[in-house]
Amino acid sequence: MSRLELSDLHVRYGAVAALRGVDLVVESGTILALIGPNGAGKSTTLLAMAGACEGKVSGRIVFNGNDISLHSPEKRTRAGIALVPEGRRIFTKLSVEQNLTVARAGRADRAEVEVEEIYERFPVLGDFASRQAGLLSGGQQQQLAIGRALMMRPTVLLLDEPSLGLSPKIVEEVFQTVVTLRDEGMTIVLVEQNAKRAAELADVTYVMRHGKLEGKGATAVTEELAQAFFSARGDERTSS
Ligand SMILES: Nc1ncnc2c1ncn2[C@@H]1O[C@H](COP(=O)(O)OP(=O)(O)OP(=O)(O)O)[C@@H](O)[C@H]1O
Ligand SMILES: [Mg+2]
Repeated sequence: MSRLELSDLHVRYGAVAALRGVDLVVESGTILALIGPNGAGKSTTLLAMAGACEGKVSGRIVFNGNDISLHSPEKRTRAGIALVPEGRRIFTKLSVEQNLTVARAGRADRAEVEVEEIYERFPVLGDFASRQAGLLSGGQQQQLAIGRALMMRPTVLLLDEPSLGLSPKIVEEVFQTVVTLRDEGMTIVLVEQNAKRAAELADVTYVMRHGKLEGKGATAVTEELAQAFFSARGDERTSS
């Protein structure tokens, strides 16, 4: 069970109101896709869930019935929430294996995954275990970023634009990984620019714009959501 609930979430970065009253329920074992134009507040939503947001956060975040609003990022990680941040943020100078093992440093209080488990899921990471992570391809680096998060044995995975900068074939592989993880019982929040594809594979999709959720739908309304997304993008461009 890993249900995550946001109630009336607000985030401010100084004068900028990045989130303006977000109510959202992520049901256990589902993929929730969050789409929307640049600056809408998607990354901020994930960061607030992970407790890693630099802004001033107010509102309630409840995880499995516990109010975690004031919990540190470390405490949330231990509770089972893992973030794969925008831009992957792997340690490019460290080896693949070091990237995986640093993730569990200082966390003896929790049963971590062994690296072999990650290599089973992503064989190429095992092949390149001693290679400098910065030398991996974009797709391999994304596998490493996800693998590093999985080392924490999360029940909720927050993925911020995992397909960014990857070729269509590799994007499909990343999305396949996301679906597999969901099928294994993981709860996933997927932020994506690749709106149509994300909405197709998600159990539920929300469109975010100007710090608020504008639309919700099941996979069946993919086209409509994609339309909402693209028109929102258009508006955003003309207004800036
Ligand atoms: N650390 C920060 N300091 C100040 N303002 C920030 C910070 N992070 C985000 N913002 C602002 O908050 C708003 C929401 O940003 P956020 O990164 O959450 O949007 P996003 O939907 O993830 O956009 P993108 O699609 O470009 O990644 C934007 O106006 C952004 O400029
Ligand atoms: Mg973002």
